[in-house]
Amino acid sequence: MRLWVGLRTGREEARIIGARVPPGNPEMPANPAEKRLVSARCVCYEPAPEGSTGVFAMADDGSIRPLIAGNWKMNGRRADGVALARELVRQARRSTRADLRCDLVICPPATLLTMLAEVVADGPVGLGAQDCHPLASGAHTGDVSAAMLADAGCRYVIVGHSERRTDHGERDEQVRAKAEAAHTVGLCAIVCLGEAEAERARGETLAVVERQFRGSLPVAATAANTVIAYEPVWAIGTGKVPTTAEIAAVHAQLRALAGNQMTDGQRLRLLYGGSVKAGNAAEILAVANVNGALVGGASLSAGDFWAIARSCP
Ligand code: PGA
Repeated sequence: MRLWVGLRTGREEARIIGARVPPGNPEMPANPAEKRLVSARCVCYEPAPEGSTGVFAMADDGSIRPLIAGNWKMNGRRADGVALARELVRQARRSTRADLRCDLVICPPATLLTMLAEVVADGPVGLGAQDCHPLASGAHTGDVSAAMLADAGCRYVIVGHSERRTDHGERDEQVRAKAEAAHTVGLCAIVCLGEAEAERARGETLAVVERQFRGSLPVAATAANTVIAYEPVWAIGTGKVPTTAEIAAVHAQLRALAGNQMTDGQRLRLLYGGSVKAGNAAEILAVANVNGALVGGASLSAGDFWAIARSCP
């Protein structure tokens, strides 16, 4: 069995990072069934399903460590994908705690996953996919299962993105089934939801978001295996962004829903997505209950993505 542990990265830097430790590592405790302090460097550990990863979302002070996730969508060839991933890994590796106050994940198209898994391997940048099929295998031409994504080196998978909901008619039940499939193989599901422009105009935003939250989240969702991304459909790729008060209202509702539905809902990461850019990230990321961002267009530039990551409060 492979185990994943949290390592202290320095005396003053108490954040927990995910790191793979091979069996037989001297820091590995004899009994991996319980969490405990293992050594000065190794603060906790968790067994993880074979081939999957643990995801550490908490800073040591109990606050939620933000997540900045890049959704590359249907963009990237091998050469530019590798160059972009390499540059992010390089920047993240040389950054200090003051520079990097968030976790980073890139979600490239499926064709690049295995290649980029090697580029980011065991480093500070996580790898995610953009969708998965709810079933593990079978006659589903063109689809990729969550188990295959875990096998390819992913730690995350986006499910229920509005472009999937619109282009492929995905409904909440399918999104929930995909998130369950992700959990089964140890992937963290980034579950997307958000209202369309007409729904906002009709004053239905909070009702739509609540319906999607209740319908798209598996019963067994926890803060460790799930991230929510609130993405107003009308803000995606348009340059339009809700006001900070509008974002705060939705995120407050999501926090309340998470608190009611999940035992650790106060720790669930709630991302905002939709036209997040270097120029507006600091303002958005400072909004209460915004614990990171799902970034589309701006994630295709290492400089812009990095600037957004550095905007975390
Ligand atoms: P955008 O996309 O940042 O280009 O608006 C966000 C998303 O679709 O996740």
